[in-house]
Amino acid sequence: MSDQWGFETKQIHVGGDPDPTTGARAVPIYQTTSYDLGDTSRAADLFALAEIGNIYTRIMNPTQGALEARINALEGGCMTAVGLPGALAVSSGQSATTLALLTLCESGDHVVASPSLYGGTYNLFNYTLPKMGVEVTFVDDPDDLDQWRSEIRDNTKAFYGEVLANPRNNVFDIQGVSGVAHDSGIPLVVDNTVPTPYLIRPLEWGADIVVHSLTKFCGGHGTSIGGAIIDGGTFDYAASGRFSNFTEPDPSYNGIAYFPALGHGSFIIKARVQMLRDLGMAISPFNAFLIIQGLETLSLRMERHFANAQKVAEFLDARDEVDSVSFAGLPSSPWFDRAKQYGGGRGAGSIVAFEVKGGVEAGKKFIEALDLHSHVANIGDVRSLAIHPASTTHSQLSEDEQVSTGVTAGQVRLSVGLESIEDILADLETGFSALS
Ligand SMILES: Cc1ncc(COP(=O)(O)O)c(C=O)c1O
Repeated sequence: MSDQWGFETKQIHVGGDPDPTTGARAVPIYQTTSYDLGDTSRAADLFALAEIGNIYTRIMNPTQGALEARINALEGGCMTAVGLPGALAVSSGQSATTLALLTLCESGDHVVASPSLYGGTYNLFNYTLPKMGVEVTFVDDPDDLDQWRSEIRDNTKAFYGEVLANPRNNVFDIQGVSGVAHDSGIPLVVDNTVPTPYLIRPLEWGADIVVHSLTKFCGGHGTSIGGAIIDGGTFDYAASGRFSNFTEPDPSYNGIAYFPALGHGSFIIKARVQMLRDLGMAISPFNAFLIIQGLETLSLRMERHFANAQKVAEFLDARDEVDSVSFAGLPSSPWFDRAKQYGGGRGAGSIVAFEVKGGVEAGKKFIEALDLHSHVANIGDVRSLAIHPASTTHSQLSEDEQVSTGVTAGQVRLSVGLESIEDILADLETGFSALS
């Protein structure tokens, strides 16, 4: 069955192979809302999931599909029982986290999370999810496995953490925390935005579900907001005993019981056909296309990001004007060994946070003196970026909340870009000159 553009809807073209209908090497942008359903019995089959094919771009689109196949391959996600890769591309990183948790949780459920989180995620967990009936408990110390264990309740449906937390640069104990989670039949969801799968593949270390802000390093060029969820496909929602929302019929989808009917990729299919259908945070095909361009150079860019960041961290560490540097690539970091273990020595990310002597005023002065560094609220751009988190990205948090998420008053956060290292260091030197 082909659509009016000759696109074969049964065999969804998702990889890096030439387009089967045109031979084009690059992924086409399918800028369309909907697809020819064929005759009425095929239409019914598509809606009943008896046949998997494109119906409507809020739920599925070939350009989105190509992005999903690639991020799934990079993270080592599953292949679902319906033949789709175990990933779902969505409109933003925030959408990915929200959708992942709402696929697992319902009102009355509970999540245990690390407090070392991006400010937007902290707000989502601390304020917005509770308004929807999902309570989140933050452990004080994410490295203390007993704390995770002691926060488990009968209604706990997920553990959550950032693999390389922004901006404290602590490396999440994926193996340890997933062990505690699995002992109690709970899946571990991790945000792998900062390391990217080039550095760390969390599913191989015990995580069950990975979320991404593709806006950052995966897209890489500061052009497009996007997110993704990847399903490892190994979590057993029946054996857990906690997930009646997977194992009992869903009246909103013809009474389907997602697990085990849809196999071990049932999480990601439920996320798509139930939650994305209802909440609608779809990524535009054009943004999916732009993020695919970024993924094609991910390994090269990350190599250079990491090499530059290591040199910047060492430069800052040696400065008298600097009180402390948070970067897991420095031997002084408590997470140095874990970064090496998970990252195979490839690097330690490219977010370098440091505390300038002189507190808030010194931090602001430093940033204002920079020229090569863009002063923007983003990370993971090809350009070097600098920001003062306490007065910007984490400003909606109270002082205590800032401290618990890893933000301090004089802290400057750098996202080290791909420029020549000499130019980056010269610009930082200008920042220090402004302090004297
Ligand atoms: C680690 C991390 N996760 C998630 C997000 C949210 O992503 P988005 O801005 O694409 O919604 C961000 C944004 O800064 C982030 O840094």
